[in-house]
Amino acid sequence: MDLHPAHPRNLAFAPLSEEDLPLLYTWLRKPHIREFYHQKTVPPWEEMRADYLRRLHPLWPTRCFLARAGTAAIGYIQVYRVSDYPEYAALIGESHGISLDLFIGEPEFLGKGWGRLILSQFLHDIAFPLFPEEQVSWIYHDARNRRARHASMAAGFQPVRSFHEEGDLKELFFLHRAGFSRNV
Ligand SMILES: CC(C)(COP(=O)(O)OP(=O)(O)OC[C@H]1O[C@@H](n2cnc3c(N)ncnc32)[C@H](O)[C@@H]1OP(=O)(O)O)[C@@H](O)C(=O)NCCC(=O)NCCS
Repeated sequence: MDLHPAHPRNLAFAPLSEEDLPLLYTWLRKPHIREFYHQKTVPPWEEMRADYLRRLHPLWPTRCFLARAGTAAIGYIQVYRVSDYPEYAALIGESHGISLDLFIGEPEFLGKGWGRLILSQFLHDIAFPLFPEEQVSWIYHDARNRRARHASMAAGFQPVRSFHEEGDLKELFFLHRAGFSRNV
């Protein structure tokens, strides 16, 4: 696969399905995911499966997707309305908009520009169209997660403020729908 940024990449999103859960479970246990994305102990397979099966219901407020590069599944991304999660809204100090979480599960795809492309293309193709009434997207990263912070800013997010979560310093970023263009 050609990873040169000047060449188009074949990135697509598919709603997460039950068949994807074993792969997701493999990813969640990898060291680069445990570092910042899933720091808590990974639950046993049956528990994790039950948790994610609930998320597959069409009325579940978080919408979950697999990112594919060509035929290869490379990562996971989810989007939700901030107002559907009051505790999260209080944590980030915002009451409106959508918010994203993502990771690249396959280590060989890290640090090659896929993260910024996933963010930008997902907002354009999936996230904003799914929530047409929302005007802003939020994302937050651990202050030490330089790769994630750089990727988000490359996708057009701008830093807003810092806050603490369970003792760790986090940084909140925002991106307005107005003026947003797929810039990567
Ligand atoms: C965060 C993540 C999605 C970013 O995707 P990515 O494809 O790796 O990132 P990109 O290649 O688009 O951008 C990486 C940026 O960080 C820089 N970078 C790469 N490796 C780095 C490292 N080890 N330390 C610091 N910066 C690094 C790159 O130079 C680039 O920035 P620049 O364009 O300003 O030079 C991906 O790294 C990931 O899944 N990480 C593990 C899970 C995670 O942290 N998720 C985010 C929590 S919400």
